[in-house]
This record gives sequence, structure tokens and C-alpha cells, in this order.
Amino acid sequence: MEGLSRFNLIGSSPQFQKTVAQIHSMARLDATVLVNGETGTGKELAVRAIHYLSARSDRPFVPVNCGALSESLVESELFGHERGAFTDAKNASAGLIGEAAGGTLFLDEVDTLSPRAQAALLRFLQDRTYRRVGGGTLRQVDVRVAVASNADLRCLAEARLFRKDLLYRLNVITLHMPPLREREGDAEVLARAMLQRFSHQYRLPLKRLHAEGRDFIERYPWPGNVRELENVMHREFLLCEESELRLAESRAELMPASAMRPSDAGKGELPAFREAKARAVAEFERSYVFAMLSRADGNISRAARLARQDRSAFGKLVRKYGIGHEDDGAAA
Ligand SMILES: Nc1ncnc2c1ncn2[C@@H]1O[C@H](COP(=O)(O)OP(=O)(O)OP(=O)(O)O)[C@@H](O)[C@H]1O
Ligand SMILES: [Mg+2]
Repeated sequence: MEGLSRFNLIGSSPQFQKTVAQIHSMARLDATVLVNGETGTGKELAVRAIHYLSARSDRPFVPVNCGALSESLVESELFGHERGAFTDAKNASAGLIGEAAGGTLFLDEVDTLSPRAQAALLRFLQDRTYRRVGGGTLRQVDVRVAVASNADLRCLAEARLFRKDLLYRLNVITLHMPPLREREGDAEVLARAMLQRFSHQYRLPLKRLHAEGRDFIERYPWPGNVRELENVMHREFLLCEESELRLAESRAELMPASAMRPSDAGKGELPAFREAKARAVAEFERSYVFAMLSRADGNISRAARLARQDRSAFGKLVRKYGIGHEDDGAAA
């Protein structure tokens, strides 16, 4: 997998090797890609790899965080606008789609697009034509679209929070990024590679993992996946005085003994029904709460009304998944 080292897609577990092979074949196809997976699993990195390994690699890669686009500007950001289309439109703009011409447009957090933006994207995916805001001409552009979401779009579509017809258009080829806890041995491989990178980056001597550090890395379930591991290793690299990292502080902070995974038992076994169900319910709750909050611009009271739930029960869910700010009061 030598070609991929440029993108730092590190991991030697069979689970991850399968993902890497899929990335290679998706780079050869020119179809719309949907990437899903938990937070920090490397969805953006995977999409970048697909673009840079594809025939479009010398054309632009344009990432867009849909969650950061304001409802009123999303269409002009994506599709551009003509001069004078609205008060602030002093100059015409080609929009992100125009910027990505010939290349790949990456729509991250696609689940947060407003219904109106979803409709506009669907129209574009149907015939690859679009109009700038305030502009009459129908434009055509050759752009590969890739999207990512860590919410389950199918659940959202079932709950009518995401357009089904858009999901079908997006879901031409799907890449699932496995969570780190399912990638046997990769956490340690990644941790070592990160330590090497930090030592280069800071021009400091290499630090190694002590057996205690390795044990923690292997047994902690890493809910924030590679990003969480990266943050822990970064902090330990900079703050720990010893040359062998025991990760004692991170362990104390992150892992009350009850959260430890058994070191061998259960490895490779399928989850029991109860556990699988609990995980699916948690995933649904998280996606649902997140979607309601995005619809309600982060206002918990309004989101609770949309969900037809009482405010305090809904607030509890928000806290449970650490999604919103708890300080929006009761104003709506
Ligand atoms: N296989 C990997 N090898 C090396 N680094 C990785 C790998 N996967 C992820 N990373 C690193 O972990 C961090 C998170 O990756 P990325 O931003 O692609 O995740 P994501 O799935 O898009 O997360 P989110 O859902 O939170 O947006 C980045 O710094 C990335 O470089
Ligand atoms: Mg991302």
C-alpha cells in the first residue's frame, strides 16, 4: 500500500486493510461516494485519499463543512451567485461547486444540510446542472461529489429528517470507516507512528511506549477514535518527562476501571444481542438529537418541541451525548 503513505493512512489490521483496498477501488471509479463512520475514524482522510489517487488528482479538492454554512447562505456558498443577487453581493461568485470544477467536492456533515439545501443538492446530482443565486443561465460542471456523515443517514431518512431520494443519489458507493476498537492492534501501530511524527515535528528525541502504556492503548475503547488517540499521544509526548510513556495520567483521566475492555476475552466475538441493541439505540438517539438540534439552530427548547418530547427529557439526551450547549434557557 505504498502509494497511500502520502496520505498517512496508517493501520495494519485486516479490518483496516480491507478499508484501504476499498479506497483504492473507489479511486478508480468516478461515482458519488458516501463515507460513514464514528467521529475521528478518518472519514476526511479517506475522501482525500480517494481524490488524490483518482484521475482527478491534479484538479481541485474542495472540502465544505456543511454544518458551518448558515441556512441563508448555503445555496450561494455552494452554487455561487451573480453580482447584485442580494445586498452584499458586490461581485459574482462561482461558488464551491464552480471552484471544484474537474475535481472533487467534499460535503462533510451532509446530514446538517437544511431541507432547502438538500433539495438544491438533489437537483444538481440529478443532471449536474445548476444556476447561481440570482442568475438565469443554466450551468454545467463536471464534479465528483463525496459526502460524509457520522449520523446514520438511513435512520435520519426513516425519521424523515433527511430526504430519501437524496440518500439514494448519494449512496452510490459507500465506505464505512471502522471504529478504532474494532481494528485489532492498530491503536498501538498508530500511537508509534504518531510518536515518530511528533519527534520530527518538534525536533525532540523519540519517545517510546512503556508496557503499561501499550496495555492502556489496547484496552481503552477510544470513543473518539484516531483523533482522540492523536490528542492523547500529543499531550503525553509534550508533557511527559520520561522517555518511555506509561500514559498514567491519561489512563486515570479517561478510564475508570469499569470502562476497561477485558484484555483478551471476547476478542473477535460478535456482540451479544443486548449490547448490539444498546449500541444501535445509542447511535439512533445521538443522530436524532443532533438532527433536531441542527433544525432548531441549537435551541434545545425548540428542538424538544420538534421531537415532541418534554424539554427536560430532551435536555437529558443532549447532555448524555454531549451535543449542544445547555445554556439556551427556555427561550425559543
Ligand atoms: N488511518 C489513519 N492513519 C493516520 N491518521 C489518521 C488515520 N485516520 C485518522 N487519522 C487522523 O485522525 C484525525 C481525524 O481524522 P478525520 O478528520 O479524517 O476524521 P473524521 O472521521 O472526518 O472525524 P469527524 O467525524 O469528527 O469529522 C486526523 O488528524 C487524521 O489525520
Ligand atoms: Mg471530518
